[in-house]
Amino acid sequence: MNFTGKNVIITGGTTGIGLATAKAFINAGANVWITGRNAANLEKASAEINSPNLKKVVSDTSKMVDIEVLEKAFAESGEKLDVLFLNAGIAVFTPIEQTTEADFDAQFNTNVKGHYFTLQKLIPHLAYGSAVIFTSSTVATASNIGTSVYSSTKGALNKIAQIAANELADRKIRVNIVSPGPVQTPGLEHALPAEAKPHLAAATALQRLGDPDEIATTVLFLASDAASFITGTEIVADGGYLTYGLK
Ligand SMILES: NC(=O)c1ccc[n+]([C@@H]2O[C@H](COP(=O)([O-])OP(=O)(O)OC[C@H]3O[C@@H](n4cnc5c(N)ncnc54)[C@H](OP(=O)(O)O)[C@@H]3O)[C@@H](O)[C@H]2O)c1
Repeated sequence: MNFTGKNVIITGGTTGIGLATAKAFINAGANVWITGRNAANLEKASAEINSPNLKKVVSDTSKMVDIEVLEKAFAESGEKLDVLFLNAGIAVFTPIEQTTEADFDAQFNTNVKGHYFTLQKLIPHLAYGSAVIFTSSTVATASNIGTSVYSSTKGALNKIAQIAANELADRKIRVNIVSPGPVQTPGLEHALPAEAKPHLAAATALQRLGDPDEIATTVLFLASDAASFITGTEIVADGGYLTYGLK
C-alpha cells in the first residue's frame, strides 16, 4: 500500500500496536505524528523508526490540555490530515468488587474521553476523503471476568466510532474500528501475569498470540483506498479468538 505524502496521526505510537503501525506507515511513504505520555518513550520509538518523516508530540490523551497541544502541533504543519489512528490505551484487569475509582477513571479518561475529544479537536483538520481508525478490542464483544471496566471502554468506543462514521460521511471521511485479539505487546505484558499468555494463545483458533505488525497491516488496509466502501464497521483481527470456543 502506498501512502506517499499522506499525513498520519497515531495516538499511543511509542510501543506495541501503535509503534508497529507508525513503522508501517513510514515504510509506505507517509509523514507520521506519534504521541505518548513522555519524551523518553517517544525518543526511543523515534530512534527505532529513524526517519525524517516521523514527528513526535508529548501528549497525554486523558488530558484536554494535552489534546490541544497535539492539535496545535499538527495545525502548525499547515497540512491536512489523511489518517487519524486513535490507538492509545490502558488496561487494568480487576473483578468489579476490587475496582478502584482511580482505575475506573484512568481507563475511561484514556480509552474513551481521550479518543472522543482527540477526534473532536482534529475533525477540522481531516481532509475530504480521509480515514479515522479506532483501536477497540475483542473484549468489547466478549464478557471475560475481571475486564468490566476495560471492556466497557471498548464497547463505548465502538458506539462512538459508529456514530462518527455517520456524522462525517458527508465529508467522505470513513471511520472504522480495528479490534485485536490477544497481541504480544508491552501493554499485554503489563496488564496480565506471564502465565496468562499460554492460556490466551490457546483461546485462539490459530493457537498463538498476534504480532503487532498483523494489526498494523489491518489498519493500513482500513486507511487505504482499497477500503473505500468500508465505514462504520469493525475488523476483528484476533486469530479466531472470538469464535473459538465459548466467550
Ligand atoms: N495487546 C493486546 O492484546 C490488545 C488487544 C486488544 C486491544 N488492544 C488495544 O491496542 C491499543 C494499543 O495497545 P498495545 O497492546 O499496543 O499496548 P502498549 O504497548 O502499552 O501501547 C500503548 C500505547 O498507548 C500509549 N498511551 C497509553 N496511555 C496514554 C495516554 N494517556 N496518552 C497518550 N498515550 C498513551 C503508550 O505510550 P506511553 O506509554 O509512551 O505514554 C503506548 O504508546 C490499546 O488501545 C489497547 O487497548 C491491545
